[in-house]
Amino acid sequence: MKPVTAKLNNTSKRVNIAHLIHLTRKMSEEEIDLESLEGVGSVTAQKLKDSGVRSVLDLAVRGPSEVAEITGWDLRKATDLCNTARIKLVEIGRLEKDFVSATDLYKKRQSVERITTGCKNLDDLLAGGIETQAITEFYGEFGSGKTQLCHTLCVTVQTPHDQGGLEANAVYIDTENTFRPERLVGIAEGRGLDPDTTLKGVTVGKAYNSAHQELIISELGEYIKSNRIKLVIVDSAVAHYRAEFLGRGTLAERQQRLNRMLHLLLRTAEAHSVAIVFTNQVQSTPDVFFGDPSKPTGGHVVGHTSTYRIYLRKAGKNRVARMVDSPYHPEREVLFVLNEKGVDDPPQETAGRKK
Ligand SMILES: Nc1ncnc2c1ncn2[C@@H]1O[C@H](COP(=O)(O)OP(=O)(O)OP(=O)(O)O)[C@@H](O)[C@H]1O
Ligand SMILES: [Mg+2]
Repeated sequence: MKPVTAKLNNTSKRVNIAHLIHLTRKMSEEEIDLESLEGVGSVTAQKLKDSGVRSVLDLAVRGPSEVAEITGWDLRKATDLCNTARIKLVEIGRLEKDFVSATDLYKKRQSVERITTGCKNLDDLLAGGIETQAITEFYGEFGSGKTQLCHTLCVTVQTPHDQGGLEANAVYIDTENTFRPERLVGIAEGRGLDPDTTLKGVTVGKAYNSAHQELIISELGEYIKSNRIKLVIVDSAVAHYRAEFLGRGTLAERQQRLNRMLHLLLRTAEAHSVAIVFTNQVQSTPDVFFGDPSKPTGGHVVGHTSTYRIYLRKAGKNRVARMVDSPYHPEREVLFVLNEKGVDDPPQETAGRKK
């Protein structure tokens, strides 16, 4: 099948991913027909399709509360359907069983792939690179290098396996209007790669508000399957929510919406074996008198969904990355710089560990 990609040019032409998904929907190879599920007849299947749920995998990824919301069914019916979908996917080997041995899990962990950041120090910090089947969050103040890192990853993911890439494509969900195709061209050239090929491997979805961001993310599954996507960037994940939900009275709703969006991202990472990278801003905490008075926005909801959290900050000409939260990486810091290659190791930096 011919992959559908967005060709970007220097005039910053942006492509609405939802439109592309619509174009490629018919081309999906891995559709598992909804009517193959026990208890799902043509009426139920049609209702699901009309609500945007097009396959069994889609049904399992979205989960009961979202299915109930978009179809208008009660939660119990939606829960039963989602569980039936899950069982079917376990049967055909697309999802792992509810109880798995540690040995099987260990084997599955071996299938996790890594994408080089193009910077040895950052790769060391991440034990080899950005993982598939997980969410990696980079947070930090303005100018700390989050967007530069995201652009670099869109280039490195396309490189061959022996160069640390996955020979795969990327989706860039841009919420702050900071995606720049010319920067991709610059980074590709800085790394001795062909800029046109690099541009073809990146699709941009510009999200205009939080609801639009959620729509794009809910449509990702289809697009990932048809376009050999291994990396999904959301830069930044929280900005629209921060801007739209002002004041304490809206906090509960904001957190609920954020939670749903992030869990959809996490399920997408796991079900489709892609790496999800999102950026987050910091809010100042004036009550902190010692140390760095910055913490990521989004509170516990964001912290608990990210598999890995890395804090970026400026240090003169350099940048510092600190692994803040990870199930298995030690907490430590490394140095990196921003240059024509995107993110890179500091000059003459060999070990690169910050004491
Ligand atoms: N071609 C380049 N070469 C070297 N440095 C660059 C280049 N392009 C941008 N930069 C540097 O990258 C920095 C901006 O980084 P970036 O856009 O990644 O910040 P950010 O963390 O995403 O900030 P924000 O929170 O505002 O989105 C600036 O200091 C800029 O000088
Ligand atoms: Mg940015």
